Amino acid sequence: MTHAIRIHKAGPASALKWQEVEIGKPKKGDLLIRNTAVGLNFIDTYHRKGLYPIPTPFTPGVEGAGVIEAIGAGDTKLKVGDRVAYCSDPLGSYAERRLFPADRAIKIPSGISDEQAASMMLKGLTAAMLLKRIYKPAKGDKVLIHAAAGGVGLILCQWAKHLGATVIGTVSSRKKATLAKANGCDHPIIYTDKDFVQQVKRLTRGQGVPVVYDGVGKDTYPGSLDCLQSRGMWITFGNASGPVPPVAPLTLLQKGSLFMTRPMLNHYITTTEELTSLARELFTVVRKGAVKIQVNQQYTLKDAAKAHRDLEQRKTTGSTILVP
Ligand SMILES: NC(=O)c1ccc[n+]([C@@H]2O[C@H](COP(=O)([O-])OP(=O)(O)OC[C@H]3O[C@@H](n4cnc5c(N)ncnc54)[C@H](OP(=O)(O)O)[C@@H]3O)[C@@H](O)[C@H]2O)c1
Repeated sequence: MTHAIRIHKAGPASALKWQEVEIGKPKKGDLLIRNTAVGLNFIDTYHRKGLYPIPTPFTPGVEGAGVIEAIGAGDTKLKVGDRVAYCSDPLGSYAERRLFPADRAIKIPSGISDEQAASMMLKGLTAAMLLKRIYKPAKGDKVLIHAAAGGVGLILCQWAKHLGATVIGTVSSRKKATLAKANGCDHPIIYTDKDFVQQVKRLTRGQGVPVVYDGVGKDTYPGSLDCLQSRGMWITFGNASGPVPPVAPLTLLQKGSLFMTRPMLNHYITTTEELTSLARELFTVVRKGAVKIQVNQQYTLKDAAKAHRDLEQRKTTGSTILVP
């Protein structure tokens, strides 16, 4: 027997229940992992609320790190006692122990702690997907990153800056603006005070930016499109303020032959090779100190409901972990 957070009916944070669960022994291809740190992500709130429907009951959570306690039959380079991290299906990281496919787990390199690994697998690989697979900023590009002081946001700002971009970022408070600025965001805009479209136009002398990394969704639409130069790329990758309404192809034409993509990390790490190569790029920038992973909040796993409320009320910055 072990403990996990379970959801029996989609709903508010109170839907997260701490319970005993039976997980059994690892089958062929699976690892039994004792989680030491679990990553908190905005997607966990979509699963909990039913925005991304999941059959109930289920254990939520996509990101975690821990130690291998047992290995089912089958080939793997991993061994009992190895520290591993993960961020893909199946769900279920909000648990003391869990089963997980060996070919989707990544061995944590030395120099990276379990807490950092649990904080960066989903958020950091998402940043890697956005900056290295979808739109890699050229040196001197001015780019716009929404929610620049958030989990994905702080990693994106540092990495985009490292690639040579000038970073414009949006945040909701002065405190978050200071934090973003200390992490590579050259021009933080407090979008709850000022019109971010006007500010981006001012900072780019009316030209607009070639790319917008937009994890905010509903509230930054259609403003994000108005920040783009002709043939610019709108990467709408999240719904922190709610889902974006349907976008007509003609809107993209009218606003300058724009490109739009709605990516999901899972589709960029479909094979073990894709997963390991993206993880290698992330670990490289973290180990050389170009990107620092900031664990700014920590809760016990039992207190996941409090963590969800704080995340949804915009009280968190950087990454958050839940400790089993
Ligand atoms: N597509 C993918 O594969 C993928 C993978 C990972 C994450 N994501 C997305 O990336 C985004 C960031 O994820 P995260 O886990 O790092 O979260 P986060 O950025 O730490 O938290 C979300 C941030 O969004 C901003 N926000 C704006 N309007 C909001 C509202 N009405 N309610 C709550 N927050 C609001 C807040 O920053 P301010 O207070 O500064 O506005 C808040 O801190 C999310 O949309 C998530 O779904 C997508």
